[in-house]
Amino acid sequence: MDNTPFPKEIVDKFIKESNLPNVGTASIRELRKLSTQIEEAAGKKFIRMEMGIPGLPAPEIGIKAEVQALKNGVASLYPAIEGIPELRKEAARFVKNFMDIDLSPESFFATVGSMHGAFSALMVAGRMDKTRDTVLFIDPGFPVHKQLVKMIGVKYTGFDVYNHRGDALKVKLESYLKKGNISCVLYSNPNNPSWICFTELELKIIAELADAYNVLVMEDLAYFAMDFRKDLGTPGKPPFQATVARYTDNYILFISSSKAFSYAGQRVGILVIPPNIYTMEKPDLTRYYSSAVFGHSVIFNTLYATTAGVSHSAQHGLAALLKAANDGEYHFLEIVGEYGNRARIMKKLFQENGFLLVYDKDGDDPIADGFYFTIRYPGLSGAQLVQEFLYYGISAIALSTTGSDQEGIRACVSFVLPEQFNELEKRLKLFHCNHQ
Ligand SMILES: Cc1ncc(COP(=O)(O)O)c(C=O)c1O
Repeated sequence: MDNTPFPKEIVDKFIKESNLPNVGTASIRELRKLSTQIEEAAGKKFIRMEMGIPGLPAPEIGIKAEVQALKNGVASLYPAIEGIPELRKEAARFVKNFMDIDLSPESFFATVGSMHGAFSALMVAGRMDKTRDTVLFIDPGFPVHKQLVKMIGVKYTGFDVYNHRGDALKVKLESYLKKGNISCVLYSNPNNPSWICFTELELKIIAELADAYNVLVMEDLAYFAMDFRKDLGTPGKPPFQATVARYTDNYILFISSSKAFSYAGQRVGILVIPPNIYTMEKPDLTRYYSSAVFGHSVIFNTLYATTAGVSHSAQHGLAALLKAANDGEYHFLEIVGEYGNRARIMKKLFQENGFLLVYDKDGDDPIADGFYFTIRYPGLSGAQLVQEFLYYGISAIALSTTGSDQEGIRACVSFVLPEQFNELEKRLKLFHCNHQ
């Protein structure tokens, strides 16, 4: 096609220079670099859908609390390794208010983003039992989790949940758990990249099987309460964020401040370890740690040896945000609801131009509009679509890079501004016209 918005010579030149074996399956950072090079050479903006970073400003409440904490002198002091008491207290209130789960502040720990919580928990869970040497991912998923597990030197396996929703999840999940080699199972909910949310039936299945096979469930709530189909934002009032913790005690939660509070730059998240998991004794842990106690190995060994705590001021910032949300003074979901609005419009633009949603249902309900959605174009693989989109100034990642077996791409809405919707529509129309 010689009528594409971004000239073929320019796109081809940078693809060649990138030396990527397959542009279509490149990572987020690789695609980001390539799109930026093409943008600069062509003098035109891309519609950036590859990056999963927040596109909204950080809230004043957090910033003010951080400035005040710094003025009060926290910068010179090491923070408590478990997290500052104010943060732990507000985190416990938050989980009660928005999930209806009762835990005391002692079960909450500050981590350098929820990614660090996952790293620490996976490192300990992955090595707590010699006979259980494999982590199970319910995919599609966040590619960095697999990178973490590889770095730790633990094996992993996974399956695309696409064809195993509802009751069918039981058979599929059990087929992995019954092998006896799985230490823990990890998934994100809402899910990155597909934005599916597990139904109560599915969460119950996961909980029951985890209990039956003594496997730890790690629930990643990176997009806390961002299932915008329901009003999850009134403290203390149902409906609540769905969670496996309603059906089992055999869990760990990762709560991120990055998306729900637009606080990604401060690298502060919450790791939740309930008392029965914290005190669990696993003799194999003494191969690596000073104690056989699970929680002790996570907090006093892994967190300590990796970061020695979380930036003191960032903890004050997040504590203030959680407190304001708990007190009903800061309606965080009204602010990030903007992502849902963008997704609704963008999905329509894609669907009007021949694209189809890939992951489209939770049970009988259409999936929520939120931070991500997944689309495909008939006749093209996900990798082909990623590459082809470069000529149209659209960047996204292929689903195959996320553990998905489906052909399609992940679109992230956070960096696409409403004023770009007209341009997006024009480019999609042209794409459709050129491919019919
Ligand atoms: C599923 C998932 N988990 C974890 C993270 C990382 O969160 P944090 O910034 O809190 O480390 C992300 C960020 O994109 C994510 O999508």
